[in-house]
Amino acid sequence: MPKIRIGLIGYGGIGRVHASAYRAIPFHYGLPADSIEIAGVATTRHETAKRAAEEIGCPFSTADFRELLARDDIDMVDICTPNNSHHEIVVSATEAGKHIYCEKPLAMNAAEAGGMAQAVRAAGLKAQVTFNFRFFPAVTRAKELVDAGFLGRVFSFRGRYHRSSYIEGDKPMSWRLQREVTGGGALFDLGSHVLDLLYYVLGEFDAVNGTLDTLIRERPAAAGSAEMARVDVDDIALLQARTAAGTLGSVEISRMGTGATNDLSFEIFGQRGAIRFDLGDPAWLHVYDTRDAAGPLGGGRGFRKIEAVSRYDGQRAPDWTMTPDFMRSHAECQYQFIRSIWEDAPTSPSFEDGAHVQKIMAAAERSSELGTWVRLSDV
Ligand SMILES: NC(=O)c1ccc[n+]([C@@H]2O[C@H](COP(=O)([O-])OP(=O)(O)OC[C@H]3O[C@@H](n4cnc5c(N)ncnc54)[C@H](O)[C@@H]3O)[C@@H](O)[C@H]2O)c1
Repeated sequence: MPKIRIGLIGYGGIGRVHASAYRAIPFHYGLPADSIEIAGVATTRHETAKRAAEEIGCPFSTADFRELLARDDIDMVDICTPNNSHHEIVVSATEAGKHIYCEKPLAMNAAEAGGMAQAVRAAGLKAQVTFNFRFFPAVTRAKELVDAGFLGRVFSFRGRYHRSSYIEGDKPMSWRLQREVTGGGALFDLGSHVLDLLYYVLGEFDAVNGTLDTLIRERPAAAGSAEMARVDVDDIALLQARTAAGTLGSVEISRMGTGATNDLSFEIFGQRGAIRFDLGDPAWLHVYDTRDAAGPLGGGRGFRKIEAVSRYDGQRAPDWTMTPDFMRSHAECQYQFIRSIWEDAPTSPSFEDGAHVQKIMAAAERSSELGTWVRLSDV
């Protein structure tokens, strides 16, 4: 396979996540380390772009994304910038003949998005939106089951994406709260994800009846500022929707879901069964099958958890049985160790911790041999 050279545009919260994920791909799929390379990065300012290049370890940085597009050593761009820049960057990248990977929501409005889709189609380029939640194996499995007719006639659906990211009234303005930058509020930011999942699993939507509201209408213009700025996007959106197949459902989207960190879930109810996905428990798909035997005390019926752990086609590592955040826990474990070297601080878990666990295991073995309790001090 030819090497893919990426121009990363935008290096904020999600730009970092994308950069880290590209680096991991060769390890996940057994590819040469240099098969996927970030060849350059663009942000809005030279200093941040330079810092980004240092973090990524890439040779080129710029404060003008067009300089990335002009380079011959870039095959695709990855757009990780606020929503109002997606259209301009996509159109320019199309003209430059680069494949495009673009963050969600694709655009500021439907007309813009349609034009972008048309432009890349006409140019014969590859383009994809980062609706990354589709790639949890449990979601893919849900789609497989629905496509295979497991649910029979689909009665209804329910989607939900709640976060508590804006419940504090003193949280200052950001681009996510300004319509001219973001295009829409919670509906665009969170709603695009859960709506995509429902569309992916159930097919096209036909009609929507929605109510949007803004619960906190003014916020400090900047952190600690007494000057207030107007919020002109929704922070809660309640939708009823009907799919093209005629299925009715509801979708709740909110940034004001107190206590919710990242509560995305969907349920689909059918004549023959039901499916539930919960991002808080992503290694499993919950499935109910009416064909399971009923009985006076319930028989064999009930929601079952189908293992959908890390089953990715062609994956070499991590082993499929590992939970989705297994890689992250290794990175944290390594990082804490390296910090202890940098800062000359104690390590944890230390070799003493390792030795204690060893003693517990030795005591367990000895105890099994002796058929009695064994104290750790005796092994
Ligand atoms: N898929 C997901 O799970 C997910 C999660 C978070 C954000 N997002 C999406 O990613 C995008 C970025 O969000 P974020 O949270 O990373 O934002 P952010 O504010 O943290 O970072 C934005 C970055 O874009 C850069 N930038 C802005 N305009 C630019 C331009 N014209 N040229 C080059 N660089 C430019 C900024 O310098 C900054 O580095 C948004 O579209 C957002 O909806 C997706």
